[in-house]
Amino acid sequence: MDKRTLHLWLANPNDVLAEGVAEECDRLLTEDERARLQAFRFERLRHEYLTTRALVRTALSHYHPISPEAWRFTLNAYGKPTADADCAMQFNLSNCPELVVCLISHGAEVGVDAEPWARAKEIAEVAHTVFSPLELEQLETLSGPEKGDRGVSLWTLKEAYIKARGMGVSLPLKKISFVFGGAEGIHLELDPCLNDESERWQFCQLDHAGHRIAMMVERTAGPELEVLEMRPLLAESTKLSDGVVRWYPYC
Ligand SMILES: CC(C)(COP(=O)(O)OP(=O)(O)OC[C@H]1O[C@@H](n2cnc3c(N)ncnc32)[C@H](O)[C@@H]1OP(=O)(O)O)[C@@H](O)C(=O)NCCC(=O)NCCS
Repeated sequence: MDKRTLHLWLANPNDVLAEGVAEECDRLLTEDERARLQAFRFERLRHEYLTTRALVRTALSHYHPISPEAWRFTLNAYGKPTADADCAMQFNLSNCPELVVCLISHGAEVGVDAEPWARAKEIAEVAHTVFSPLELEQLETLSGPEKGDRGVSLWTLKEAYIKARGMGVSLPLKKISFVFGGAEGIHLELDPCLNDESERWQFCQLDHAGHRIAMMVERTAGPELEVLEMRPLLAESTKLSDGVVRWYPYC
């Protein structure tokens, strides 16, 4: 994997239900991970968790000679995991009941968020609590499906940014604006209190299986995205054709 390439790995938690798969995934877990798995009260959450662990461990082993069960991770103060191994790989994860995604880069910080389109209504209801005044102003000019679509885009892009920063919702969401339109297509505006430069980042969105996926990556020249699907879970991955994305802001 070279420094320009990004790999997005996809898996579906429903695949844990296939015979023997949950047991095979379980074998990859550390004792701490197994304890966390057992603490989930709902089966759906256990499937998401198992799928996420299996996906990140198997995917990272494609790039670095460590077996999937041998990876160890450290969380930063806000919960972002990084691999302990002395390798350049960076990754970030997002999980939904029917999709788990893992974005991997060689060196660049990354953040990813996936949300089902079906969450559009729920997102619209809390828009005023998370979107910036500028984002809300643009949102109010839209109606119907276009408005719902914009809400999902804003949500996933903001989430991908706060996850790339590794600081989650400790960052002031209303001070981060994704502004649509103009020569750049979409551009990021950051209040000085974010202590960051928008020029540091580029981002894209991809729709897959009823979900929107937003990716935020530290800027490199001519980024290339490859999308790999691991279905059934733990099987050899296949390369999907939907890796052609538009990167923002346009150069
Ligand atoms: C924790 C948070 C980083 C993501 O939470 P989320 O949306 O529930 O979950 P996602 O499925 O997208 O991501 C979860 C994964 O992100 C990773 N993660 C956790 N904390 C993280 C952080 N501070 N930065 C980056 N990644 C983080 C973990 O790998 C986690 O999965 P795991 O626990 O199974 O390893 C944080 O952004 C949050 O609490 N969001 C709440 C939702 C919200 O209000 N969003 C506002 C959007 S406008």
